[in-house]
Amino acid sequence: MLAAYAHAVDAEDPLAGLEVGQRPEPEPPTGWTTVDVRAAALNHHDVWALRGRGLRAEQLPMILGTDAAGVDQDGSEVVVHAVISADDWRGDETLDPRRTLLSERHAGALAQRVAVPRRNLVPKPPELSFEEAACLPTAWLTAYRMLFVKSGLRPGQTVLVQGAGGGVATAAIALGHHAGLRVWATSRDEAKRARAVALGADAAFEAGARLPERVDAVLETVGEATWAHSLRSLRPGGTLVVAGATSGFGPPADLARVFFLQLRVIGSTMGTRDELEALIALCATAGVRPLIDRVLPLAEAREGFRAMEAGDLVGKVVFTP
Ligand SMILES: NC(=O)c1ccc[n+]([C@@H]2O[C@H](COP(=O)([O-])OP(=O)(O)OC[C@H]3O[C@@H](n4cnc5c(N)ncnc54)[C@H](OP(=O)(O)O)[C@@H]3O)[C@@H](O)[C@H]2O)c1
Repeated sequence: MLAAYAHAVDAEDPLAGLEVGQRPEPEPPTGWTTVDVRAAALNHHDVWALRGRGLRAEQLPMILGTDAAGVDQDGSEVVVHAVISADDWRGDETLDPRRTLLSERHAGALAQRVAVPRRNLVPKPPELSFEEAACLPTAWLTAYRMLFVKSGLRPGQTVLVQGAGGGVATAAIALGHHAGLRVWATSRDEAKRARAVALGADAAFEAGARLPERVDAVLETVGEATWAHSLRSLRPGGTLVVAGATSGFGPPADLARVFFLQLRVIGSTMGTRDELEALIALCATAGVRPLIDRVLPLAEAREGFRAMEAGDLVGKVVFTP
């Protein structure tokens, strides 16, 4: 079957290890099933994997991808929850110390077919296309959990979303707007700021700009480049939720500001199967839809990876196998 996979890892030149070609069909173990993938979405996780973050040389070749929507063996339309917890784990799957994401230990979703535990299948409602549904399990689920589970925000409060063009950021802007939050966003790029406002942001600012007032919470996935601005932008007692660090992992912590202003710094990763179900229901009933930058045939996956590595995106890249 056709798949996009890592055959090597290279911290400096991630695309050098990317192959798009034939891989063996998946062989699902007991309790697992196979999904015919109709659409699969790209995430920065896939670029990190090609850089060797989370993927070791002895695991190669590895099919990439955490996001898929497709048809299961019974002919039902499904979305795949990418967090795989141990068989005996109960409760929040993201907190299982043995949990893994698709494409880390098990072959990923950028393929014609993917094997997944049966319990990781969530029904896809007819309101969502396969392309839209494929955007939900990673970037959109991460934004959902940051906003509605971790931030403590209530409708009417103000949230700042850093790096407006990213998959998580566009999801946070759209979801925050639909949830009645005042959404402010930053981007280095004027065109992306305009897109953020079109998507539902109440205002968009240049990266690092002084804001009209301090905000209740900041959603951070850019990391080093925006961290200091995130801390500076919070009101006393405000909350910084961090789920990513695209620009680097080592910003100064600014501890004095954290304790004098009694800020809360909270990590967030992916989301539970229940949260994915709730996100899908929200999209179906409230009419929120993922912003898709481009849909490409899986055979042209390299073009999507190149755009993501260059930061030349607004929203999600989707592949159709
Ligand atoms: N913890 C989790 O479960 C989880 C889940 C999903 C994603 N993530 C992580 O979250 C991060 C975001 O992923 P993504 O797929 O949404 O988007 P992404 O493609 O990594 O882009 C995010 C945004 O980062 C900004 N950015 C990148 N480099 C920057 C720099 N040097 N200075 C300022 N801004 C910069 C860009 O904003 P502008 O161009 O608009 O300024 C870009 O639109 C990734 O690191 C990913 O691994 C984590």
